Amino acid sequence: MATEATEIRGPGHRVKRVEDDRFIRGKGNYVDDIKLPEMLHMAILRSPLAHAKINSIDTSKAAAVPGVVAVVTGDLMAQHNLAWMPTLSYDTQAVLATDKVRFQGQEVAAVIAEDPYVAKDALELIEVDYEPLEAIVTPQRALEPDAPVIRDDKEGQAGNAIYHWEAGDKEATDKAFGEADVVVSIDTFYPRCHPAPLETCGCVADINPATGQATIYMTSQAPHVIRTVFALVTGLPEEKIRIVSPDLGGGFGNKVPVYPGYVVATAASLLLGRPVKWIEDRSENLISTGFARDYHMHGELALKKDGTMLGLRTSLLSDNGAFYADAQPTKFKAGLFHIVTGSYDFKAAHVVADGAYTNKAPGGVAYRCSFRVTEASYLIERLVQNAAYELAMDPAQLRLKNFIRADQFPYASATGFVYDSGDYHGAMNLALEKIGYDELLKEQKEARAQGKLYGIGMASFTEVVGAGPHKDYDILGLKMNDGAELRIHPTGKAILKISCQTQGQGHETTFAQIVAGELGIQPEDIKVMHGDTDNTPYGLGTYASRSTPTSGAATAMVARKIRDKARKIAAHLLEVSEEDLEFQGDRFFVKGAPDRAKTIQDVAFAAYTNFPDGMEPGLEGVSYYDPPNLTFPFGTYVVAVEVDPDTGQWEVRRMVAVDDCGVRINPMIVEGQIHGGLTEGYGIAAMQLITFDDGGNCVGSNFMDYLLPTSWETPKFETFATVTPSPHHPIGAKGVGESATVGSPAAYVNAVIDALQHLGIRNIDMPVTSSKVWDAVQAARAGETG
Ligand code: CDP
Repeated sequence: MATEATEIRGPGHRVKRVEDDRFIRGKGNYVDDIKLPEMLHMAILRSPLAHAKINSIDTSKAAAVPGVVAVVTGDLMAQHNLAWMPTLSYDTQAVLATDKVRFQGQEVAAVIAEDPYVAKDALELIEVDYEPLEAIVTPQRALEPDAPVIRDDKEGQAGNAIYHWEAGDKEATDKAFGEADVVVSIDTFYPRCHPAPLETCGCVADINPATGQATIYMTSQAPHVIRTVFALVTGLPEEKIRIVSPDLGGGFGNKVPVYPGYVVATAASLLLGRPVKWIEDRSENLISTGFARDYHMHGELALKKDGTMLGLRTSLLSDNGAFYADAQPTKFKAGLFHIVTGSYDFKAAHVVADGAYTNKAPGGVAYRCSFRVTEASYLIERLVQNAAYELAMDPAQLRLKNFIRADQFPYASATGFVYDSGDYHGAMNLALEKIGYDELLKEQKEARAQGKLYGIGMASFTEVVGAGPHKDYDILGLKMNDGAELRIHPTGKAILKISCQTQGQGHETTFAQIVAGELGIQPEDIKVMHGDTDNTPYGLGTYASRSTPTSGAATAMVARKIRDKARKIAAHLLEVSEEDLEFQGDRFFVKGAPDRAKTIQDVAFAAYTNFPDGMEPGLEGVSYYDPPNLTFPFGTYVVAVEVDPDTGQWEVRRMVAVDDCGVRINPMIVEGQIHGGLTEGYGIAAMQLITFDDGGNCVGSNFMDYLLPTSWETPKFETFATVTPSPHHPIGAKGVGESATVGSPAAYVNAVIDALQHLGIRNIDMPVTSSKVWDAVQAARAGETG
C-alpha cells in the first residue's frame, strides 16, 4: 500500500555529485591505473624539427637494449597498411612518419618494452637522419605562392590551402554596408592555446590472440566513434572491438581526436599478443595533441548613427597545423563560427573562412566551446565595444538597443541558424542590476578623475550547442545523435546507460536526476554507466556542450517510454483503466482518489511478478534522440578592472555573470561548470598562450611556460541565472558546459580596453599580458606627446 508521496530530487535540486565520493578518496579509475598481466609499455620518439625530410631511421641500437621487445617505425606500420590514418575531418594523418616530419613533436617511432623507463631510455638510441626544410609557422606564409607544400603526400595538393567556406548573404551584406553611417572594424588574433587536461592522453590496448577480441582502454571523449574509426582503419570486425573510457581527468576537446599513439599501441598488441600501455607525459600532451583556436579574424560592423546595427562582415584565416583533424561537423568547415551575429538582430551578415596547413601540431579542437563559437563570440563582442566608443554610446545601451527581442523567437539569424528561445534583455538587465551599473559608472568617473585606469567591460553571448539534427550534422558521415538505455530492476532501482562520456561534468548525478524527475526513483537509486562501447548505446560523444541536449534528451524520452508501460501495469494492479490514472512524484494514483496509488517500486516489482496477460515482462527500454534543432544558451558578463599604469598589470575588481541554460537540472553543478568556464576564459584572456619561434619550435611545452590560472590569480565570481527553457528539449534544458569560456574572454578584454580607451587604444590581442598593456600605454602616450 502506498504511503505519502516523498519529494523526488529530480531536476532543480542541488544534489551532491555522486562521483565525488570516489574522486576525493583517490579511488577514481583512470587509464594509467589499469594494469594487466603481461602488460608491455610503449614510448614514442617525436620529431625535434618542425619540417624535415627523413632520409633514414636506424633502430638497431634501441632494439638491442635488454628489455626492449620491439621498435616500431612507419615502414613497419606501412607493411600493415597503417602508416596513415583518416582524421575526423576527412583528411589523413601520419601514424608514424615515413617520408617527412611536418611538426615538432610528430610521432616518428615507438619502443615497446617490459618497463616504461626502459622504453623511454631506448628512444635516445634511435638514429634518425633528418634533412631540414623551411618551417611554416603562420597561415599567411603558408598561402604565399612560393611556400613549400607541407602535404606533398596528398595527391593533387598544390599549395597549403585546406578549405574555403562561406556563410550568409554577401549581396545583402554589401547593401547593408551601403546604407551605413558608420563602419567599425577590427583585426584580431585569437591565439593558439591548449586545453591541458590534468590527465594526459593514453591507452592500454589488449588484443587477445586466441579470440581476436580487442579491448582498448582509452582516454576518449567519444568512445563509440573511435570504435567505428578503429574498425575502418585496422580492418578488425567492429563487434570484436571494445573501447572503454574509464574515469577521465578532464578532456575539454583535447580527447576527441584519434591520436597515433592509440593506433600504434593497438597494432603492437595485435602483433605481439600482449597488452600494451602508452601514457603521454605532460610535454608530449602540450606539444603534439589537439590545440585550440589559432584564428586570425577581421570583422566589420555597419551601423546607423543612432546605433542601429545593419550588417556584419567577417573574414577568417585558420591555422590548422599539419593535418586537418579538428572534428568539426562535416558540413561546417569553420565550425559553427557563423553564430558570429551573436545576440543581435542583424538583417544581413557574411562570413568568409579559409584554413591552411602549417608546420604545427594539428589544432582547432572545440576547447570548452562548441565548434569555433568562442572565436565568433569574441569577435562580435570586441566589435560592439569599439562601436560604442565610435558612436560615443554607452556599451550596455548599444547592446540593449540591438538585441533580438524575446518576442522574436524562434529567430532566424542572417547566417542560417534558428535560435530556439532567449531573453537577452532580461539577462543583461539582471547583470547590470547585480553589479550596480550606475554606481559603478560613478566609481569609474571618480577613479579616472584621480588618474586611475579603471575599466568596465561587458560581453553578451549566444552559444550554439547540442549538435545536432541529422539533416545537417555528422562527423565522418556519422549522424550526431545520441542514445540512452534504462532498465528498472524488480526492486525499483535502476541502471541508466548513456552514450556520452563524462570527464568531470557530473553526468552520473545529473542524468540520474533526469530519470528521477520522470519516474520518481531517487537519484541515488540509479546507477549511471558510460564509456564502454559494449555496454552503452551508440552516440557521438561529449564535447561542445552536447551531452544534455542530446543524450540528456534521450534519457528523458526513454524514461517516458518506460512510464507509459508502467502506467499499464499500474492500471492492472489498481483494476482501473489507464485513463483513470495520474502520475505524480513517484506514483500513479486514481484520479480523485489519491490514496489508491501504486509507487514506481510497486510497479517495477509487478513488471517481473504480476503483469497483465499478453504483456512482455520487464521494465526497460532504449531511445535515440535526433534533435529537431540546436539549443542556444546565452548570458551577459560584466567585469570591472583596474590597470596599473606603471606595470601594465590588471586586476579584476568585480565579475558578474548571468547565464541562461534553460531549465537547470542541477543548479550546483551548473554553477561549477560556469566557475570553471569563467576561470578558463580568464586564463585565455590573461595568460594562456602556445606560441612558436621562426623554426617552428613550440614555446610552451611545460607548465612553467604555458601558464594556467591558479586559485591565486583567479578572480572572485558573482553568478546569477535567468531561466528561458528550450521549447523543443524534453525537459527544457540547454547545454551549459562551455558557455562561460565562450562568453567571458571578451568581457575581460573589453574591460581592459575600456580602461585604456581614452588613450585611443582599441585592441590588444590575447593574452593581454602586463607587458603588452604597458607597451600599448607607452606607445599611446608617446603618440600624445610626440
Ligand atoms: O556535454 P557536456 O556535459 O560537457 O555539457 P552539458 O550538457 O552542458 O552539461 C554539463 C553539466 O551540466 C552536466 O552535468 C549537465 O547535466 C549539467 N547541466 C544541468 O544540470 N542543467 C542544464 N540545463 C545543462 C547542463
